[in-house]
Amino acid sequence: MKFFLDTADIGEIEEAASWGVLAGVTTNPTLYAKIGGKLSDFHAHIKRICEICDGPVSAETVSLDRAGIVREGEELAAIAPNVVVKVPVMPEGLAATKTLSERGIAVNMTLCFTVPQALMAARAGARYVSPFVGRFDDISEDGLEHLGNIVAALRNYVFEHDVEVIAASIRHNQHVVAAALMGADIATVPFAVLQKLVKHPLTDRGLEAFLADWERVKNA
Ligand code: E4P
Repeated sequence: MKFFLDTADIGEIEEAASWGVLAGVTTNPTLYAKIGGKLSDFHAHIKRICEICDGPVSAETVSLDRAGIVREGEELAAIAPNVVVKVPVMPEGLAATKTLSERGIAVNMTLCFTVPQALMAARAGARYVSPFVGRFDDISEDGLEHLGNIVAALRNYVFEHDVEVIAASIRHNQHVVAAALMGADIATVPFAVLQKLVKHPLTDRGLEAFLADWERVKNA
């Protein structure tokens, strides 16, 4: 499984990149608003992220019609070669995805919740499909069950383009573990989750003991 960071925060992206495990970044309008992003700075901000992370960087369109999504998508794709255009699953979004993918632009179809949505996204030419896990849990449905169904359904078919599943809307470690066991290709995680993924109390306790014993060796 590859790890993407789900954030627009440059500091978080720089930190994760420095660990050597950052394979990509996903942003959305909410995440950009959260860091106080301005419309006029949006393209420059995505460019900066692409300079830090050379993996796929998803930047989301906000138009609701096919022509608008395609125009926005082409503008975003022109920012850097690793930009992936994020498009919501909806009829106009599918049509735009078809056009963008035919023009060689990678698309990440987002706000995906069901198997049929994922299958249609793949048929439209999406390079990535992002099933949301946590938002299902938020409404007392089992987000992981939906994710597992989507992974299994997509594996049943061969599509025109490679399709990778990005487990999105990740809230905690267990979401990541389950997504990995199901075979999701990527987990896009908030920075707080990425920090927790590397931690374990037994690692901390073991390190503390090794360092204490090394002090004894040095003083022997
Ligand atoms: C995915 O690409 C989305 O940006 C994200 O995972 C949404 O997560 P949320 O439900 O925490 O907003």
